[in-house]
Amino acid sequence: MGEYIITGNKKLKGTVTVNGSKNAVLPILAATVLNGSVNILENCPEISDTKTSIDILKHIGCDIETENKTIIVNSSNVKCAEIPSELVKKMRSSIIFMGPLLTRFKKAVLSHPGGCELGKRPIDLHLSAFRKMGAEITEENDIITCTCDKLSGCDITLDFPSVGATQNIILAAVLAEGTTVISNCAKEPEITDLCRYLTKIGAKIEGGGTSEIKISGVEKLKPARHTILPDRIEAGTYMIMAAATGGKVLIKNVFPHHLSVLSDILSKMGCKIKTTPSTILIKAPSKLNNIPFIQTLPYPGVPTDLQPQLTALSAVSKGMCSFEETIFESRTAHINELLKMGADISLKNECEFTVKGVPCLYGAEVSAKDLRGGAALITAALRAEGVTHVKNSCHIERGYENIVENLSGLGVNITLKNSSDVV
Ligand code: EPZ
Repeated sequence: MGEYIITGNKKLKGTVTVNGSKNAVLPILAATVLNGSVNILENCPEISDTKTSIDILKHIGCDIETENKTIIVNSSNVKCAEIPSELVKKMRSSIIFMGPLLTRFKKAVLSHPGGCELGKRPIDLHLSAFRKMGAEITEENDIITCTCDKLSGCDITLDFPSVGATQNIILAAVLAEGTTVISNCAKEPEITDLCRYLTKIGAKIEGGGTSEIKISGVEKLKPARHTILPDRIEAGTYMIMAAATGGKVLIKNVFPHHLSVLSDILSKMGCKIKTTPSTILIKAPSKLNNIPFIQTLPYPGVPTDLQPQLTALSAVSKGMCSFEETIFESRTAHINELLKMGADISLKNECEFTVKGVPCLYGAEVSAKDLRGGAALITAALRAEGVTHVKNSCHIERGYENIVENLSGLGVNITLKNSSDVV
């Protein structure tokens, strides 16, 4: 467990290039199990969650080659449909291997996934869909065992547009018998990217990125090459960091239309934003004005994965902002840590809180409790007076490649002290 040491109150200036999307590469890596062939994935982010997915693929029998940001997965020799708990528990998205294993091997055995502490994080929508498609599912001592003679296509309406459940059902339906129609499904760009990859390997999918997706089962799939789309949450995080420090940053390798809601908020707060098809230039005044209300919603609404970072930005902006987190039942672990830095935030309940901007925050010793909450603490540290220690760097390393190099390149005095460095 390392800690970031950040000297604050420095305007971010310069250019940062966004990496491939964590939340796109993880389901696509799981999907490579389906075709029993060679998959060349380019622009993959080099983060710990990618490594965990690679470890899972190797465990079940895939041959993997990696070179820079390209991962080559040969799934022809996959023979194991069980994933050990120590791998599953490392990240929430390990659950996404269930669909591909079940449809290809008629069996999948995993423990309940781990991941960020954002509430219970149930998988009932995943399991009820698999049962409807013909799977038998038992749960004993935290181990979930799924088996089926075959999976049959059917109509599934999700109670909530769950990203993971949408992805898992698509992956289970690609080789199922007949047609599956998912209604009220998630529309995130990462779903669209998964559908693009699956179509390349021969799946028959219509409606990716809309609230109704139709998958017609096929019998055979083929090899493919795919480039992972840019990480809109990484890009949005750097936009918010630039805004928090009154900086001027050019963000490259990004799809601005994936961040139009964030750009709208930051413009209303006082930033100047210019875009081209693959870049965003953000210029911020030294002090922003809060907008009255921010509510997270499924795409294309305000992403829940940027709520913690926006909380930190709001804490150093003039006026007040009320937040409502509607996606997760508890995404407020960053608030107590921000209070240690002098933020003025009052929690109404686990999903609603009000931020009152303060003249400045002060460096402190704080701890990241989850990935995006950790990014929020770094955001606050960049603006704060003095030095901040952000502990539990492992959470942040799950989703931000080269964050020390990137922030140093923007003029920030930041170092990562690994626990082994402690004398
Ligand atoms: C994905 O998580 C992302 N993770 C999350 O990003 C993101 O916050 C989330 O989607 C929402 O956009 C990956 O893609 C790896 P959900 P996922 O299923 O699929 C409830 C990050 O920081 N739910 O859309 O787990 C659930 O409890 C991470 O990069 C059920 O009730 O999210 C939650 O309240 C954090 N039953 C809501 O739906 C289910 O069976 C949204 O969850 C499944 C979900």
